[in-house]
Amino acid sequence: MEILGIDVGGSGIKAAIVNTETGKMISKRNRIITPQPATPQAIATIIKQQAEHFEWTGAIGCGFPAVVQNGIVKTASNIDKTNIDTNIEVLISQITGLPAFVLNDADAAGLAEATFGSGREKQGLILMITIGTGIGTALIHNGIVIPNSEFGHIFMSNGKIAERYAADAVRTQKALSWQTWGKRFSKYLQMLELYLSPDLILLGGGVSSDFDLFSKYLKLKTPVIPAKLKNKAGIIGAAFYAKHKIEHEKIS
Ligand code: BGC
Repeated sequence: MEILGIDVGGSGIKAAIVNTETGKMISKRNRIITPQPATPQAIATIIKQQAEHFEWTGAIGCGFPAVVQNGIVKTASNIDKTNIDTNIEVLISQITGLPAFVLNDADAAGLAEATFGSGREKQGLILMITIGTGIGTALIHNGIVIPNSEFGHIFMSNGKIAERYAADAVRTQKALSWQTWGKRFSKYLQMLELYLSPDLILLGGGVSSDFDLFSKYLKLKTPVIPAKLKNKAGIIGAAFYAKHKIEHEKIS
């Protein structure tokens, strides 16, 4: 099945057509800047532009940077607050005229990595962390995603919210060296390791391409590896989620 996968991020809204059997993109990735303010209407309008760009008439799977329960947005850390309580699935469907399925962006990335990427055929608890404008987390146990974990919002011992202390946006805004940022990120991972005892930690988001520059500062007992699908994971996972919903809920 082919699905248009969309990854809504704090700075860009990315899309590509995905073959959900192989987990591969079968089109080029198209990126449009996230509108500011990132209201639900403005985001859905960009998603319509993405559908038009690909001349797409099928289903859409969308990763969204917030808690999403049954299609409804529940939080808004890096998007406009008017998203809260919006049924984003219904809104995207109305604006595009296409069936849409929405899940948390980090859960989408985790789902893709667990199915097609670095977590493939790995048993146990995988903690996937996406590092970008914010910090997203996904928990995958034996291939099943436990949705809407928000470990980017835990408090560090210095009282700061983790994503305001260790996101990639903080590294670039404060011009932190890889060493300084790597040590911060290590402290963050150590807390998660203590609370969750994962079997494997996967790091995704743009910064995962720079893994070699900061991995030496990560002091953990748990194996930590960069996510394989890099910045494609969110798009692929969103498409895969939509396929799952269509097949299991017999939606056509
Ligand atoms: C949001 C998460 C999201 C993450 C990455 C956080 O601010 O609360 O839901 O997964 O950013 O976009």
